[in-house]
Amino acid sequence: MRCGAHVVVLFGACQSPGGKRPGPGPGAPTDSGPGDTSTPPAPAPPGFQNPPEAEDLDPADGSVRFRLEAAPHPVELRGADGEPIPLGEGFAYNGSIPGPTLRAQVGDLVWVDIENQLSVPTTVHWHGLSVPQAADGVPWAMDPIPPGGSLSVQFTVDTPGTAWYHPHFDSEAQVDLGLYGAFVVEDPAEPPVDVELIAILDDWPDELPAAAPEDGHAGGEEETHAHGAHGAEGRWTVNGAEAPLAELVDGQRVRARLINASNAGYVALQEGEVPLLALARDTARLPAPARLAAEVLGPGDRVDLLWTPAGLDATLLDHPWTLEGGAALGDPAPLLRLRSTGGAIAAPAGDWPVGEAAPSPDPGSTDITYVFQGSAHTGVWMINGEVFPEVTIRELPVGEAAVIEVRNVSGTEHPFHLHGMDVEVLSRDGVPSAVRDVQDTVNLAVYEVVRLRVVPPRAGEWMAHCHILPHAHGMMTVLRVTP
Ligand code: C2O
Ligand code: CU
Repeated sequence: MRCGAHVVVLFGACQSPGGKRPGPGPGAPTDSGPGDTSTPPAPAPPGFQNPPEAEDLDPADGSVRFRLEAAPHPVELRGADGEPIPLGEGFAYNGSIPGPTLRAQVGDLVWVDIENQLSVPTTVHWHGLSVPQAADGVPWAMDPIPPGGSLSVQFTVDTPGTAWYHPHFDSEAQVDLGLYGAFVVEDPAEPPVDVELIAILDDWPDELPAAAPEDGHAGGEEETHAHGAHGAEGRWTVNGAEAPLAELVDGQRVRARLINASNAGYVALQEGEVPLLALARDTARLPAPARLAAEVLGPGDRVDLLWTPAGLDATLLDHPWTLEGGAALGDPAPLLRLRSTGGAIAAPAGDWPVGEAAPSPDPGSTDITYVFQGSAHTGVWMINGEVFPEVTIRELPVGEAAVIEVRNVSGTEHPFHLHGMDVEVLSRDGVPSAVRDVQDTVNLAVYEVVRLRVVPPRAGEWMAHCHILPHAHGMMTVLRVTP
């Protein structure tokens, strides 16, 4: 295991250099206390557990090497009462759902040896990382890895932050069945934290639909076909557990990396008992840590939060949100419980790096317009009236600033995701961003018009699509960045 410079990895042996004991990690079994045997114990929530950390197979500095094996695997959630909930046969990376966390330092050369032990083709896409075309994992540009096949990819990670990985072949079925994991890029310029929570959010049906058919699909098309209801499914989990309890120590500096890996479900957070002090959205660090009133995580979105608990006993709630118009009525649901108890260690010193806060000016001109349209009624989802892969490829030159305007003319929200580059939100419905707002997955409200500034860092053919995976079959196009 390779530990971050200063990060305490909860299940491993790594500790912060100061040697501070983080106390019982959130993965430690919860102690129900001396029991009075005459009354049945209240159901104990499952303890929070980080996904396993992938072993770095390359001992040299400056590079990391990981092995990822996709294979069938039973899905078993941990229910809110701590009881296991078996859902049937799914898919897993390295026998774990979520898959192992891949961790690198900014500037590292990353090798990943991917093995496909599924009965269907697959690929791995690095969502939020800018990698060369050949490593991007999209069937538009490569043959998918056949059953029994393998592929080694390599790339350099040049931006710190919370990225994730998942298949880009029949994603609707494969992500839904459990193929996803976190990819953390650390930056030694960031201050140390005592505890890092990697919280991969997903929602599940009561029973998994049958896995993808064995005949696969060799045409190099992005997705195969609809598999029924791989959509919003209702039972939310954090790393496979319903409303788990993270036990923390007062005064610890805690960095929580939240990743929405759901196919179609939104998570809506509000500032409340648990403060929403955000460090980053997607892989982009905020200009400075900022208190958010609310944060909506659409499928594919991430947010990094910073907590310094003191006597904390609170629950991070997921507020009702509908695809057809955002915030909705109803009771919020518990997502993650947090409790901290006396340790009274001082928060570590060190300030968060402060970046450029001023938003870029909008030049007023538009280089590319993407119109998102379609309806759940017809099940046809399009960009500019085109259904992938029958698309018109738009072009931008590498390294030059350009404006992409995305117009949602459908009655459903869509998280717009662009491969190969980050985007800066210039304005929404004509209202300019107050501070610099960089993301890689930008939610479009119903009938919203969003103007985005990009400076494409590499040539290639990059997918632009809706990250609601049941929409992405058709609602996908290709942006060619020319050298
Ligand atoms: Cu997270 Cu094109 O995908
Ligand atoms: Cu969509």
